[in-house]
Amino acid sequence: MRPLLIKDGRIIDPSRKLDETGSLLIAEGKIAWLGKADENPPQSGYDVLNAGGLVVCPGFIDLHCHLRQPGFEEKETIASGTRAAARGGFTTVCCMPNTNPPIDNRSVVDFVRSTAEREGAVRVLPIGCISKGRQGKELAEMGELAVSGVIGYSDDGSPVTNAQIMRQAMEYSRAFDLPIMEHCEDLRLDEGGCMNEGITATRLGLRGMPAAAEEVMVTRNIALAKLTGARLHICHVSTAGSVELIRRAKEQGISVTAEVTPHHLTLTEEKVGDYDTNAKVSPPLRTKRDIQALIKGLKEGVIDAIATDHAPHTEVDKLCEFGNAASGISGLETALGSLMSLVHDGQLDLTTLISKLTCEPAKLIGGKLGTLEIDSPADITLFDPDKEWTVDPAIFASKGKNTPLAGSALKGKVMATIFEGKLAYKDDSIKLEDKGQRG
Ligand code: DOR
Repeated sequence: MRPLLIKDGRIIDPSRKLDETGSLLIAEGKIAWLGKADENPPQSGYDVLNAGGLVVCPGFIDLHCHLRQPGFEEKETIASGTRAAARGGFTTVCCMPNTNPPIDNRSVVDFVRSTAEREGAVRVLPIGCISKGRQGKELAEMGELAVSGVIGYSDDGSPVTNAQIMRQAMEYSRAFDLPIMEHCEDLRLDEGGCMNEGITATRLGLRGMPAAAEEVMVTRNIALAKLTGARLHICHVSTAGSVELIRRAKEQGISVTAEVTPHHLTLTEEKVGDYDTNAKVSPPLRTKRDIQALIKGLKEGVIDAIATDHAPHTEVDKLCEFGNAASGISGLETALGSLMSLVHDGQLDLTTLISKLTCEPAKLIGGKLGTLEIDSPADITLFDPDKEWTVDPAIFASKGKNTPLAGSALKGKVMATIFEGKLAYKDDSIKLEDKGQRG
């Protein structure tokens, strides 16, 4: 593979507090050299990608997505999901274990990893189940899962309702220094609910899911993390109250981290509109007040990372009454464009946004990811912060066309994604120039 020079881009690497125009040389799958705008790399013989006007940053890391394989290949496969990831600028995706069979033992982890190695466009890091079959009754083989390489444990899609099981899971997880990544939801409080509890649900005649259903479980899990000393990671935080609970836990020195999705940061319950099932998601879209608290939490470090919770579903899963539709949004390919609206509105600065997609999630999984440091894997995302485009699910690489953003105009587009030194995605307008001197 010929080395590649990414030339004259705005290089932003929050892991090194770097924001300057410059060039970057990739060789043998690694970052080999980084120089200022007027400098040339020390070696000759490379292809050139002109990054003028583009942001060049570490490849995005998604701590939370659903790739659906094995078992739900009609919704997504590891191949289609990782191609969607590459189109969205993600070079690492952590996949949730609510597959069929669930990722609750070594053979399923091995299957996911080997399929990803063969067919994946980007790096796939599996998350193992907390409980066998995600039933919440008996712990999964957590030690075996750790040895086989999971990056954390979760029964995502469902909470672990039994506090005693959760306590045991946390105690075991400490031995492997892996986080418990919990979907915080009190199922009794949410019973029959299908959108946020409030005025919009009342108007539509739909049963609501109260903010308290999330906050009750956030509270319980923080108490158990304090008791056990385990690493607790709160998935898809959606309410202002949860942000406050996490803030206080962090202040007390409890080992808790949290993620928020692009949709919870940018869309309100009103997006449900006229019973649009593509806006049905768990936890549900909330209110403006929640969005403001989530953005504040993100800026202040209460929320560590942005994760997509990419949840692809088929048309059949969504083409039905609102109450019966599957929950989830196909989010990998719209993440950057949606999030850039916060930057364009002055609510979030670009460096903070990039840090929440790169070095911050990298801290949770460890290793040399989320950075442009010399010798680290050449995982790089190039995006045009100002390019306007219209969301067209028909051209998604994901099999999941379920987005409430279909037809929306977004500003900010991924132009190329490089995974371990190879182009995993490039926009049609990007051309590789061959004019680097051949060595
Ligand atoms: O909306 C959601 N969809 N929330 C979850 O927690 C699970 C996910 C899925 O797997 O479809």
